[in-house]
Amino acid sequence: MVYPILAYGHRNLRKIAEDIDRNYPGLEDLIANMFETMYETSGVGLAAPQVNRQIRLFVVDASPFAEEDAAAKDFKRVFINARILEEYGEEKNFDEGCLSVPGIRGEVLRPSIIKMEYLDENFEKHTDEFSGMPARVIQHEYDHLEGILFVDHFSNLRKMRIKKKLTNISKGDVQVDYRMIFPKKKKR
Ligand code: NI
Repeated sequence: MVYPILAYGHRNLRKIAEDIDRNYPGLEDLIANMFETMYETSGVGLAAPQVNRQIRLFVVDASPFAEEDAAAKDFKRVFINARILEEYGEEKNFDEGCLSVPGIRGEVLRPSIIKMEYLDENFEKHTDEFSGMPARVIQHEYDHLEGILFVDHFSNLRKMRIKKKLTNISKGDVQVDYRMIFPKKKKR
């Protein structure tokens, strides 16, 4: 099942996501549906808050980046209750986009290496270091758990330049080829 994606401006994208345990209802289906939704929308990552679940879960498949980074080959993972412990290494720019912010892309500066603690889909605990494209995708998805969107990292000037576009997205005035949930219009 392909879920609709919450659009920029939806307040549920701004909440801090909460940890889950293995009894979280329908978790297996949720994960399968999140992968299906991600592939259907040509994403390389999808975080649960984007499908209106305020829980610390995201899925990643970085394999479209395999040509530019060998580490991305077959990098298909589920991350539950993730906590970034450290970020280090050279800060690098990379052109990012987001299913919740269609039609907008832009470079975001992030440290190139992260150390993260998380559970996989079997609730096995891991502490791993990631770099290259996997780190980049993880950092973007992890931000969603903290209520942060990639455009928040833009300079004030660039934020000003995209303000109108963002307003249009939040009003549902945007061309997009997948289903989205737009913020409720205010009653007059
Ligand atoms: Ni995103």
